[in-house]
Formats: sequence, structure tokens, C-alpha cells
Amino acid sequence: MNEAVRKNAILIIRSLALATGLAVLALAPRTLRAQDCLTCHGDSSMTDSNGHSIFVDGKHFGDSIHGSLQCANCHADIKGYPHPDKVAPVDCKTCHADQATQLGGSVHADSKEHPCTSCHGNAHEIFPKTDARSAVYPLNVPKTCGQCHSNNGMAGKHGLASVYPNYIDSIHGFALSKEGLLVAANCQSCHGSHHILSHTDPASPTYKSNIPQTCGNCHAKINDEYQAGVHGQAIAKGDLKAPVCSDCHTAHAILQPTESAFRMQSTPICGNCHKDKFSTYRDTFHSQLGSLGGYVETARCWDCHGAHDVRPTSDPASPVNPANLIATCGRCHAGANASFVKYQPHANARDRKLNPGLYFVRLFMNLLLASVLTFFLLHTILWLIRSRYQQVKTKGDNGGKHA
Ligand code: HEC
Ligand code: HEC
Ligand code: HEC
Ligand code: HEC
Ligand code: HEC
Ligand code: HEC
Ligand code: HEC
Ligand code: HEC
Ligand code: HEC
Ligand code: HEC
Ligand code: HEC
Repeated sequence: MNEAVRKNAILIIRSLALATGLAVLALAPRTLRAQDCLTCHGDSSMTDSNGHSIFVDGKHFGDSIHGSLQCANCHADIKGYPHPDKVAPVDCKTCHADQATQLGGSVHADSKEHPCTSCHGNAHEIFPKTDARSAVYPLNVPKTCGQCHSNNGMAGKHGLASVYPNYIDSIHGFALSKEGLLVAANCQSCHGSHHILSHTDPASPTYKSNIPQTCGNCHAKINDEYQAGVHGQAIAKGDLKAPVCSDCHTAHAILQPTESAFRMQSTPICGNCHKDKFSTYRDTFHSQLGSLGGYVETARCWDCHGAHDVRPTSDPASPVNPANLIATCGRCHAGANASFVKYQPHANARDRKLNPGLYFVRLFMNLLLASVLTFFLLHTILWLIRSRYQQVKTKGDNGGKHA
């Protein structure tokens, strides 16, 4: 078939389709069924006067959740044919008032930037959220939100950090995208869907003091442990200086905590807040060993203090309470006994009350250093004076001979 013949054939088919469409409409002017609209809009080459495609895939539409609706249920201003060239935008709110109201009160309230279709995809191919073809099916949510919340996405232009790449490489992202684990956290599990608020809003599930509950919806046992500890208690009392889950794990780039990537980078996590204890820990054998690289087995803060149920030393339930030290150190040091645990993990030579021995050793060493330095300084000065004196003296002695 040559090109001209093919074009003619298409023209004939399209005219026939248009004619049948008009005939159908003429016969039943009041019942504008989807089939009627599709006689024209089912033609994949159809465009409007601006050249935009106005094709609607009838098969996909029929399969979608709205397949049993008539086109005019949504395109409500189309009452008959010929319909106006300019058709009013569809308002999903007429049937989904709850979702529209929630969206209206969220960070995505701007309906121009965030029409319902920005998350639900093609308006004619919307599926239930439990259907794998849906843009908001759990496994598809990160990609859907990631259209905007990624390096070059729209959210960046609003000054927001790129989140998607961090998430997708995290333990949750991996579980979801690589293992297909439906129960792993996707964006929606922590942020919600329509009523998404900024983490600076106290009503948001990502507001600092609400985060333990948000993670705790799935990690219930760890949340219980955390709530029992000193950090959880402080947050519950409204002390926002204490850490919540995301301070130690991050919100999006969450790692598997038993793996070396976490253990090797994470000591400063406790140290960010406990600067004094971090600096004393850093002086000790355990830390020096850790910073030599690759040495994952050495004791990190939480190996001695616990990670979630952290308590003051005076609390009998603390693993570093004197009564529990042998067991705690013994996890790694087989045969640890009362004299072994006298070793001070936070030895601080500057603290006279806590470490008198070390304090005086340090004092003695410093005094020794100072006196040695002073001695040599004096010695050098005296030596300089002496050699200068000798120079002058020698010059004086030779002066007369050559004149
Ligand atoms: C006889 C063919 C025909 C039938 C039948 C028809 N349309 Fe159209 N429709 C068109 C054409 C042609 C345009 C493009 C108008 C323009 O912009 O030039 C259009 C435009 C539209 C638009 C606007 C698209 C845009 O550019 O934004 C919508 C929405 C629409 N039609 C919906 C419907 C619905 C719903 C029905 C059934 C109730 C229907 N049409 C029946 C031919 C038809
Ligand atoms: C669930 C509501 C809904 C139903 C049902 C629906 N539409 Fe639409 N339609 C929309 C929305 C929303 C848009 C605007 C899409 C956009 O801007 O992304 C749209 C856009 C269109 C357009 C413009 C071209 C385009 O795709 O953007 C045409 C033509 C159209 N619809 C035809 C139809 C026809 C024909 C049917 C029936 C087979 C139909 N619609 C059923 C919601 C609906
Ligand atoms: C920011 C993205 C986003 C926008 C914008 C959005 N939705 Fe959703 N929607 C979702 C997600 C995610 C789910 C799945 C929720 C779940 O799994 O519980 C969902 C689910 C739904 C559901 C299923 C019932 C429910 O509430 O779980 C309906 C109906 C719905 N959306 C309608 C709408 C309408 C109507 C609009 C526009 C007013 C809209 N959505 C805008 C993300 C969005
Ligand atoms: C004329 C009424 C009507 C309009 C307008 C309408 N819908 Fe629906 N929608 C329905 C009905 C009916 C269902 C099926 C409800 C059910 O099964 O619970 C549905 C289901 C849905 C679902 C699936 C809910 C689920 O269980 O996951 C989503 C998502 C959805 N609609 C989004 C939209 C979006 C987005 C728009 C606008 C483009 C829209 N709807 C416009 C009537 C409508
Ligand atoms: C169409 C692009 C787009 C999509 C899709 C989208 N967002 Fe957004 N989102 C934005 C923009 C733009 C802002 C900033 C709004 C503003 O500040 O006016 C924003 C803001 C946010 C914020 C608030 C940030 C803050 O602290 O101020 C969160 C949280 C968020 N989005 C999460 C999500 C989630 C979760 C999804 C998927 C369910 C999603 N977004 C889908 C564009 C999008
Ligand atoms: C495990 C829970 C969790 C998951 C999953 C999650 N978030 Fe978050 N998100 C948070 C928490 C908590 C915060 C606020 C604290 C922070 O940023 O450290 C936050 C903050 C944000 C912000 C605000 C960042 C800013 O610059 O102000 C955006 C945007 C956002 N998330 C989008 C997303 C998107 C998109 C996804 C999916 C790809 C997602 N989040 C997945 C918990 C989560
Ligand atoms: C929707 C449920 C859900 C929520 C909410 C959730 N997680 Fe998870 N999380 C999981 C699942 C499921 C896994 C297991 C993934 C795997 O093993 O592959 C997991 C794994 C983890 C891991 C790796 C350790 C392990 O046991 O595998 C950490 C750490 C973690 N989550 C922290 C968090 C933090 C912090 C938050 C809140 C900011 C959070 N999670 C919110 C479901 C969730
Ligand atoms: C003070 C820092 C800190 C806080 C706060 C914190 N975690 Fe952890 N979390 C850790 C450390 C450190 C580990 C590694 C423990 C180990 O390897 O023995 C860990 C381990 C985990 C694991 C892996 C399973 C396990 O028990 O080893 C999960 C899941 C987890 N945390 C979730 C959470 C959740 C949910 C919250 C909030 C309720 C939270 N974490 C609060 C530091 C913290
Ligand atoms: C975001 C800051 C922050 C981080 C991160 C943090 N802490 Fe704390 N921690 C606090 C605050 C604040 C208190 C005091 C709570 C109170 O008593 O009200 C505290 C109390 C403690 C206590 C009880 C001793 C005391 O002085 O009351 C111990 C032990 C402790 N933290 C160990 C840790 C360990 C181990 C980690 C890491 C796994 C860690 N902390 C991470 C802020 C932090
Ligand atoms: C080898 C085990 C061990 C390691 C590793 C360790 N600690 Fe300790 N920590 C102890 C012991 C034992 C005590 C009680 C004696 C003391 O105060 O020196 C203590 C005391 C503390 C206290 C004071 C508690 C109170 O009730 O006053 C804090 C806070 C603390 N450690 C934080 C940290 C932080 C942060 C790290 C990591 C940078 C860390 N620890 C690493 C064993 C350890
Ligand atoms: C998570 C495991 C772990 C825990 C818990 C732990 N250590 Fe260690 N510690 C090590 C490793 C690994 C080394 C280096 C290898 C070695 O020499 O045994 C080390 C080395 C030491 C050393 C120097 C070398 C030696 O064996 O004489 C002392 C002293 C020490 N630890 C004391 C303690 C004390 C006291 C505690 C309890 C408060 C403790 N450690 C808890 C892992 C741990």
C-alpha cells in the first residue's frame, strides 16, 4: 500500500467513524454514553485545534475504577453534541469531597501545581490503590512522589531537599523496590496521602515529638523500649533536645544498623549531643581501634549503653550500672571480672574527682614537660648571651692588629 492510498484509507475510516458517531448521537441525543464519545475520541490520531491529543483509550478506561461511569459524569458541562470547543476542567471534588478537602489543607494545596492527577496519573486510567497498576499502589508511591521530590523535580525549585534518591537506597526503599515487601515504609506510611503537612507543623506525623509514634506504627516493640528510656521520657515531657528515631537513623537514608556502614559512621550520632562523653570515648582504646578503619567489632556507645532503652548509670536497669558491668563487658570480653571492669571507658584526665589517679599523672606529666621546656629555654638564652659576649670579646682582642 503506498502512502497516498494509506492516507486516503485513514481519512475514509475517520470520516466513517465521525459519521457513525453523529448518527448514533442523532438517534439518541440524550444518552451520551462513553461509547458515543469514543466514536470520535477513540481515534488515536485525534487532536484538538492546538494540536494536543484528545485520544482516550476506551479499553483502559473501561478497565479503570471509573469504567462504569459515563464520560459526562466527570465532564459535567458536556450535555449534548456538538459540545463546546472549550470544555470546563473536571472537578474530582464533586464525588471525592473528603480527599479534596484534605488536600486543600495540605502542603500540596495549590490545585494548579497539584491537581489530583499529579499523584493519580492519567485521569482516564485510575485504579484502586490496591491494584498494582495504580500510581498510589504501595510499590509505586515512591516513584510517584519522586517525580517532584528528586534532584530535578519541582520540589527543588521550592527550596526542598531531594528526598527520593536517599529513600530509594535506604533499607525501606530496598525492601520495597527490590524485595517487593508491601509492609516496608513508603512515603505515604510516614507522611500520609492527602493531608500532608510540613515537619514544622505540630500536627504532622513527621513533627519531632510525633516521629516515635509514626515509626512505632510498625516498629512497635522498639518504640516501647525507646519510650521506657531516658530519651523517650524526655521527649514525652516536651524536651525536644532529646533524640527521636530520625536523629539517630535519619528519616530517609536509613541503614541496616548492624552493618559496618552504620557502625563505622555512627559514633558521632550520640556524640553530636554528648560532646564531652564523645571526646573522652575518643581518647580510649575502643575508639582508637574503631577509627583505624574497618574495625567494626569494637565497642560503640550503644554496645555499652543500649540503643533505645538508654538510662542513667545510677539506674539499676542500665547496662553500665556497676552491678551489670561484668555482663555488659563480658559480651565481648570473655572472662571479664570485677577488676577488668574497673577500666574507665570515659577516662578523663582533666577530671580530678572522677579520675584522681589519671588526674595526678597528667598533672605530673604537664609539670615535667613545663619544667623541661623552661630549663631548655633558659639554657638557650644564657648560651646566646654567652656566645654574643665571646664574639664581641674576640673582635675587641683582634681590633688593634690590622689597623
Ligand atoms: C463527533 C466527534 C466528537 C464526539 C462524539 C465527542 N467529541 Fe469531544 N471533541 C471533539 C473534537 C474534534 C474536540 C476538539 C475541539 C477543539 O479544540 O477543536 C473535542 C474536545 C473535547 C474535549 C476537550 C479537549 C481539550 O482540548 O481540552 C473534551 C473534554 C471532550 N471533547 C469530551 C467529550 C465527551 C465527554 C464526549 C461525549 C459526551 C465527546 N467529547 C464527544 C470531537 C468529539
Ligand atoms: C473520572 C473522571 C473522568 C472521566 C470518567 C472521564 N474523564 Fe476525560 N478527563 C478527566 C480529567 C481530569 C481530564 C484532564 C486531564 C488532565 O488535565 O490531565 C480529562 C481530559 C479529557 C480530554 C482532554 C484530553 C486529555 O486526555 O487530556 C478528553 C478528550 C477527555 N477527557 C475525554 C473523555 C472521554 C471521551 C471520556 C469517556 C470515555 C472521559 N473523558 C471520561 C476526567 C475524566
Ligand atoms: C500528593 C499526592 C496525592 C494527591 C495530590 C492526591 N492523592 Fe489521592 N491518594 C494518594 C495516595 C498516596 C493514596 C493511597 C493512600 C493509601 O494507600 O492509604 C491516595 C488514595 C486516594 C483514594 C482512595 C481512598 C483513600 O483516601 O485512600 C481516593 C478516592 C483519592 N486518592 C482521590 C484523590 C482526589 C480526588 C484527589 C484530588 C482532590 C487526590 N486523590 C489527590 C496521593 C494523592
Ligand atoms: C462522578 C463521580 C466521580 C468523579 C467525578 C470522580 N470519581 Fe473517582 N470514583 C468514583 C467512584 C464511584 C469510585 C469507586 C468507589 C469505590 O469503589 O469505592 C471512584 C474511585 C476512585 C479511586 C479509587 C479508590 C480506591 O479505592 O483506591 C480513585 C483513586 C479515584 N476515584 C480518583 C478520582 C480522581 C483523581 C478523580 C478526578 C480526576 C475522580 N476520581 C473523579 C466516582 C467519581
Ligand atoms: C507535582 C509535584 C509533587 C508531587 C507529585 C508530590 N509533591 Fe510533595 N511537594 C511538592 C512541592 C512543590 C512542595 C512544596 C510546597 C510549598 O512549599 O508550597 C511539596 C511539599 C511536600 C512536603 C512538605 C515539605 C516541608 O517540610 O515543607 C512533604 C512532606 C511532601 N511534599 C511529601 C510528598 C509526598 C509523600 C508525596 C507523594 C505521596 C508528594 N509529596 C508528591 C511537589 C510534589
Ligand atoms: C520512615 C518514614 C519516612 C518515609 C518512608 C519517608 N519520609 Fe519524608 N520525612 C520523614 C520525617 C520524619 C521527616 C522530617 C524530619 C527530617 O527531615 O529529618 C521527613 C521529611 C520530608 C520532607 C521535608 C524535607 C525538607 O527539606 O524539609 C519531604 C519533602 C519528604 N519527607 C518527602 C518524602 C518522600 C517523597 C518520601 C518517599 C520517597 C518520603 N518522604 C519517605 C519520614 C519519612
Ligand atoms: C509501614 C511500616 C514501617 C514504618 C512506618 C517504618 N518502618 Fe522501618 N522497617 C519496616 C520494615 C518492614 C522493615 C524491614 C525491611 C527488611 O528487613 O528488609 C524495616 C526496617 C527498618 C530498619 C532496619 C533494621 C531492621 O530491623 O531490618 C530500621 C533501622 C528502621 N526500619 C527504622 C525505621 C525508622 C527510624 C522509622 C521512622 C522514621 C521507620 N523505620 C518506619 C517497616 C516500617
Ligand atoms: C539514640 C539513638 C537512637 C534512637 C533515638 C533510636 N534508635 Fe534505633 N537504633 C540505634 C542504634 C545505635 C541501633 C543499633 C543497635 C545494635 O546494633 O545493637 C538501632 C537499631 C534499630 C533497629 C534495628 C533492630 C534492632 O533492635 O537492632 C530498628 C528497627 C530501629 N533501631 C528503629 C528505631 C525506631 C523505630 C526508633 C524510634 C522509636 C529508634 N530506632 C530510635 C539508635 C537509635
Ligand atoms: C539529639 C541529642 C541526643 C542524642 C543524639 C543522644 N542523646 Fe543521650 N541524652 C540527650 C539528652 C537531652 C539527655 C537528657 C535527658 C534527660 O535526662 O532529661 C540524654 C541522656 C542520656 C543518658 C543519661 C545520662 C544523663 O546524663 O542523663 C545517657 C546514658 C545517654 N543519653 C546516652 C546516649 C547514647 C548512648 C546515645 C546514642 C545511642 C545518645 N545518648 C544520643 C540527648 C541526646
Ligand atoms: C566500653 C563501654 C562504653 C562505651 C563504648 C561508651 N560508654 Fe558511656 N559510659 C560507660 C560507663 C561504664 C559509664 C559510667 C562511668 C563513667 O561515667 O565514666 C558511662 C557513662 C556515660 C554517660 C554518663 C551517664 C550518667 O548517668 O551520668 C554518658 C552520657 C555516656 N556514657 C555516653 C556515652 C557516649 C555518647 C558514648 C559514645 C561516644 C559512650 N558513652 C561510649 C561505658 C561506655
Ligand atoms: C562490642 C564489644 C565490646 C564491648 C561491649 C566492650 N569491649 Fe572492650 N574491646 C573490644 C574489642 C574488639 C577490643 C580490642 C580487641 C581486644 O584487645 O580484645 C577491646 C579492647 C578493650 C581493652 C584494651 C585491650 C584489652 O583487652 O586489655 C580494654 C581495657 C577494654 N576493651 C575494656 C572494656 C570494658 C571495661 C568494657 C565494658 C565497660 C568493654 N571493654 C566493653 C570490644 C568490646
